[in-house]
Amino acid sequence: MDTKLLFADAHGFQTPMLAVFAVDLSLAKGAQPRPSLLTSSSEVAGAARSVLASGEFKAALGETLLLHAPDGPRAYALSAQRLLLVGLGKAADYSLVNIRKGAGTAVRVAKARMLRELAIVLPEGGAVTGAPLAELPARLIARAMVEGAELAGLDWDTYRSDRKDTALRTLTLIAKKSGAATAQEMQAGFNEGSIVAAAQNFARALVNEPGNVLTPTELGRRARDLCADAGLACEVHSTEKIRELKMEAFWAVAKGSAEPPALIVMTYQPAAGVAEGAPVLGLVGKGITFDTGGISIKHADGMEKMKYDMAGAAAMIGAMHAIARLKPAVKVVAVVCSAENMPGGRAMKPGDVVTAMSGTTIEIVNTDAEGRLVLADGLHYAKTLGATHLIDAATLTGACVVALGVLNAGLFSNNEAACGQFEQALNVSGENFWRLPCTGDYREHIVSEIADIMNTGKNRWGGATSAAMFLKEFAGETPWVHLDIAGCAWNEEKKPWIAYGPSGVAVRSIVEWVRSYSA
Ligand code: BES
Ligand code: MN
Ligand code: ZN
Repeated sequence: MDTKLLFADAHGFQTPMLAVFAVDLSLAKGAQPRPSLLTSSSEVAGAARSVLASGEFKAALGETLLLHAPDGPRAYALSAQRLLLVGLGKAADYSLVNIRKGAGTAVRVAKARMLRELAIVLPEGGAVTGAPLAELPARLIARAMVEGAELAGLDWDTYRSDRKDTALRTLTLIAKKSGAATAQEMQAGFNEGSIVAAAQNFARALVNEPGNVLTPTELGRRARDLCADAGLACEVHSTEKIRELKMEAFWAVAKGSAEPPALIVMTYQPAAGVAEGAPVLGLVGKGITFDTGGISIKHADGMEKMKYDMAGAAAMIGAMHAIARLKPAVKVVAVVCSAENMPGGRAMKPGDVVTAMSGTTIEIVNTDAEGRLVLADGLHYAKTLGATHLIDAATLTGACVVALGVLNAGLFSNNEAACGQFEQALNVSGENFWRLPCTGDYREHIVSEIADIMNTGKNRWGGATSAAMFLKEFAGETPWVHLDIAGCAWNEEKKPWIAYGPSGVAVRSIVEWVRSYSA
């Protein structure tokens, strides 16, 4: 999709479809909706006047109404062939999150109609009279628009032989002509959004791949290709190096599969170099390309979904893609531990004891708690590569999904500053993470009778925290943020603004967290 930002009057723009956002100004519960357009264009408002007055369109989030240009000699002052009204919900909920969804909704309406071109009017909160809307920075509005649109542009039909090409070719985001400073801000936000959305879509495409296609080796290949394109240093290792580094926890998971594991290291160095003692960020991703559970095998129901057990790895690879293009002034090292978790004659067994690279001994109680095993060595390895701050992302526990559902991912940390910076990043990314505890008093959950720690909690309560406590052991004193994305990495429901399937969650937040360390 060729997406551009244009400063022009929307009414004179020739396009098959012009989309404009509306909010609902009604306040009282059950009151008549009062839809109001987020544009100061009197021509656009004129074209929508009678349908807005009719009450047929309520401006609910994700609601759309499509008007074709009247054929007769009527007052219609738009050059667009169609006008699409897109609801953003209640005026009080006007936000970057809803703008992102609005842009996505417009794109998906156009796609469903096989239109090749679309233009969307950038929302002007100030155009609404009757209720003050939240003031949103122009840069972030432009950014949210392009992100929402680019994410909505994809459908995961690669493996359907009856797929149709519904791709939009050109998308124009139309902003009102403004001063040079505002225009520059918007252009900067637009550029950032394009980069970040492309990275998130890259991660989504990886997550979409079935386990037979995306093996650890193939994940390594794709990371290497990406690094070659993006100008990042990349190393992809396998069995030999993993054993040489004494990553017994990672190897315990990998050895049950006929597919060799991959240890992927991607490095971003700022061109200007970094100061002595500057932070080095370590991004660690869980890359289980398929999780059968191993000898502690999973139920068959829904097991096919476990191809997305590499979504944490995809998030880190995607984030590195954006980092390479945004060029923050901070060094970043990504470590992805990829393996297939399989039962078999060489698989690890419950009761096995392994020594992680850090020297910590682990009793493997349940082979289905494999993510924390690979991450244990990944986190430690990132530290040996110089990481002073760690962040990991993993589809780690079903317990996190039980706790938070699918609308929030789990956030854990051993450090208030690092966690605070992550929470700040969420204001820009618009992603939902909810902090859960991993304080020292939970450590007893993972104490083993046989070894230093065990890879499950002593009972099933607080399972997301038990997993976090296990990882915390390997982060040690290093500031660390842990993201449990098990519930958010796959959209089970289609929405007006996004397709069913891989979400690409965490890419935007990780990128923003990294940028917050830029010198
Ligand atoms: N990959 C799963 C977690 C998961 C569950 C991801 C649902 C996505 C959706 C993980 O490896 C796992 O199996 N965790 C176990 C841990 C348990 C054995 C302590 C779980 O959550 O049941
Ligand atoms: Mn598992
Ligand atoms: Zn898993």
